[in-house]
Amino acid sequence: MTQRRDGAGIVLGVSGGIAAYKACELVRRFSENGDDVRVVPTESALRFVGEATWSALSGNPVTTGVWESVHEVPHVRIGQGADLVVVAPATADVLAKAAHGLADDLLTNTLLTARCPVVFAPAMHTEMWEHPATQENVATLRRRGALVIEPASGRLTGADTGKGRLPEPSAIFAFCRRVLRGAERAGTADLAGRHVVVSAGGTREPLDPVRYLGNRSSGKQGYALARTAAARGARVTLVAANSALPDPAGVTVVPVGTALELRDAVRAAAEDADAVVMAAAVADFRPAAYAAGKIKKRDGQGPEPVALVRNPDVLAELAAERLRSGQVVVGFAAETDDVLANGRAKLAAKGCDLLVVNEVGERRTFGAEESEAVVLGADGQETPVPFGPKEDLADAIWDQVVARVTAD
Ligand code: CTP
Repeated sequence: MTQRRDGAGIVLGVSGGIAAYKACELVRRFSENGDDVRVVPTESALRFVGEATWSALSGNPVTTGVWESVHEVPHVRIGQGADLVVVAPATADVLAKAAHGLADDLLTNTLLTARCPVVFAPAMHTEMWEHPATQENVATLRRRGALVIEPASGRLTGADTGKGRLPEPSAIFAFCRRVLRGAERAGTADLAGRHVVVSAGGTREPLDPVRYLGNRSSGKQGYALARTAAARGARVTLVAANSALPDPAGVTVVPVGTALELRDAVRAAAEDADAVVMAAAVADFRPAAYAAGKIKKRDGQGPEPVALVRNPDVLAELAAERLRSGQVVVGFAAETDDVLANGRAKLAAKGCDLLVVNEVGERRTFGAEESEAVVLGADGQETPVPFGPKEDLADAIWDQVVARVTAD
């Protein structure tokens, strides 16, 4: 496969599921991006979408069997020449074949010869996805470094609903781009086999059924951390406090409201986590009492004062307790003055391994797409990250985490 100037050589494997029609949109996105797409459908995929469609959309010939164009040795060449192989949809059958190294058609041969990142986007009925056989196959593939995107939940074929839907083509496309970017940088999925927990958004502390004390955190940095970790191969739990952002593909999202709910969810997920990143803005205080009925203004009288009590410091607790040995604990801090000195003091006070210090400046607004920070290490390391997209900062943070997770 020849690589075009700005694009990558993509092999899109399509296996036989009803979601095969969604892969057409994926081909279109890759093609429009300037990637060279080679579609390798299985025999059963062709029952859902025919060869002519794949060929027209990709602008490349389509082969399924190992006995076509034998002189070109396609069963070896296609996988060898790819920058990325993505199988979407991946059926339970193709996951099983890949996990066991079977090679009875062109796609499974390609999976054995590919040395580039391999992404599987499974789609099947919930029962098939949850079956121990499938789960073990997925675990095997992940252990070997393949990136298996968690299926989405929602409407399945027929009247059924549940986990097993193919994520939207736009989400799979964005996932693949991040994987390619990561492969360019590090060459490997360096968080493969790791479980990471990220908290994001801002907590809300209810006063009464209609009011709360909250903050303006958008959750964008935490979501960028979750997306980039998934693209680097991690299993990701995203504890999301009141964020309006869409669930990232391949990430388990646990929605929470208050600081206490966030604490419970983070601690539960952290028990087997290699790293925990506290990007959420957690309220330091909550109303001492919750009024079951709406608090009324009292004409002619001054306002009732609101008594507050301290919330637990989730980050400091995690750092002190280390729910799993060797776990890397990362915090965030926003500082206006003496950024590094204040950051160092906070890092020591919280006891975490890394602290990401955001300098609160003119360009920094809540909800911005870009930011600038310094990543401080408890070991004295200081990594400045220049103003840029939040995904770049996220990758810089994961670089520091990867350097600290103990090899096992
Ligand atoms: N944090 C937490 N639990 C809290 C408060 C904060 O886990 N109850 C975490 C945040 O997720 C973040 C870090 O601690 O990772 C921020 O620390 P904090 O002391 O709140 O820093 P600032 O917001 O900068 O607060 P201060 O005004 O005290 O400097």
